[in-house]
Amino acid sequence: MNLRSGRLKGKMTADAVSFTSSLEFDKRIFNADIKCNIAHTTMLKEQGIIPSEDADKIVEALQALEVEGINALEWDMSVEDIHMALENYVTNRIGEVAGFMHTGKSRNDQVATDLRLVLKEEIEIIEEDILKFLDTLIEMASIHTETIMVGYTHLQHAQPTTFAHHLLAYANEVKRDYERLNDAKKRVDLCPLGSAAMTGTGFNIDRERTAELLGFGGVMENSMDGVSSRDFMAETVFALAMMASNLSKISEELIVWSSYEFRLVEISDEYSSTSSIMPQKKNPDVAEISRGKTAVLYGELMTIMSILKALPHSYNRDLQEITPHLWNAVDIGRSMLNITCSMLGSIEFNSERGLELALANFSTATELADLMVREKKLPFRIAHQIVGRTVTKAIDNHIKPDEIDAKFLDEVAIEINGEKLGLDQKTVEKALNPVEIIKARDVLGGPSPTAVKKSISSLKNFIELQ
Ligand code: ARG
Repeated sequence: MNLRSGRLKGKMTADAVSFTSSLEFDKRIFNADIKCNIAHTTMLKEQGIIPSEDADKIVEALQALEVEGINALEWDMSVEDIHMALENYVTNRIGEVAGFMHTGKSRNDQVATDLRLVLKEEIEIIEEDILKFLDTLIEMASIHTETIMVGYTHLQHAQPTTFAHHLLAYANEVKRDYERLNDAKKRVDLCPLGSAAMTGTGFNIDRERTAELLGFGGVMENSMDGVSSRDFMAETVFALAMMASNLSKISEELIVWSSYEFRLVEISDEYSSTSSIMPQKKNPDVAEISRGKTAVLYGELMTIMSILKALPHSYNRDLQEITPHLWNAVDIGRSMLNITCSMLGSIEFNSERGLELALANFSTATELADLMVREKKLPFRIAHQIVGRTVTKAIDNHIKPDEIDAKFLDEVAIEINGEKLGLDQKTVEKALNPVEIIKARDVLGGPSPTAVKKSISSLKNFIELQ
């Protein structure tokens, strides 16, 4: 059936045909389009809108196509899109009665329905992948509850923590990515079918029935909104872009931590490359590509937002331009997630180096100040000043953090506060010991092994509830 044989006399130029064609990226909605047509035809039959026997023939043809697969379609650029290719297939199989399937339906509501159906499936796959990633993080964290490392702020040594605690920061971030996607899914899961071109139809269709047949959670009510809105894509891609942002932080840390300067992790060979000229090189290329792809995903979000800006209601063909960007965003997000999961799962953490760094550069200073507040009831600000001066003096005099003792602290205290602190040497040593510091940080969400174990079990609960 040639769409153009009615209103139009002339053919489109070959350039215009390929310029406007969506066939290539329509491949992704092939199965959804069959389902959508089957549901619509079934409803038309149930409502007595089209002859029952013709409806059966249409459904049978569509089912045959489902079995035969996409190659059974005439894949000719002059066929505008998958919807026409599909209708042509049914027409070739059962003749003119195929035309009944388009009663009270437009490609406008059809494409919006197909895209929602496929995106919902894609989100569900990514959700599963996030849960697997959470499992990996939990498994790693369980092994590393006592693996000490230094935590950073401003990429400067801040306070001692554990690798498990750091891994759980990742876990909480991707858990929110899961929740964002899950929330976006609620709005993807609404059926616009029956909106037809933009004002619905005069036929007595049952929109709730088609939504039910297609497994949607609900119906998109306004028919103009139904064909013109793509905010469900924008918010899904935002959720993916945010996830990519979180994953890029993991990549960045693996890149930095695997450097000679840090020597905190060893990335496995499977996720490393070498140099064509420098024989000694082991490069974290996979993490770098992942970090780089984050920008491509952001770009897709910006492309989608820009296409949507100030579009008049209702359907405009510009909307078609969004589709390949949506799928690219979905594919990038998913591949980043899975590669990060397996790459991170394959690293070796250097616990000796973790401890060495935690001891090397005064990351224990906060605890020392806390000690003065706790034992000597000094206001925190004064304690902060004493410890700050202690660190400067220690650096100036080449004194190592673990060489700071009660006497040294007294000298500085006199300088600042006019009197000795009189701290017990044993307590000072304890305050400078990362293991003790971590053990004491037993608050909710803190790094103590018990607090981490609690966080792990609440994450496990979260996974089980999904
Ligand atoms: N290929 C189009 C899209 O992706 C199909 C929808 C309607 N086409 C039309 N010419 N009204 O948006």
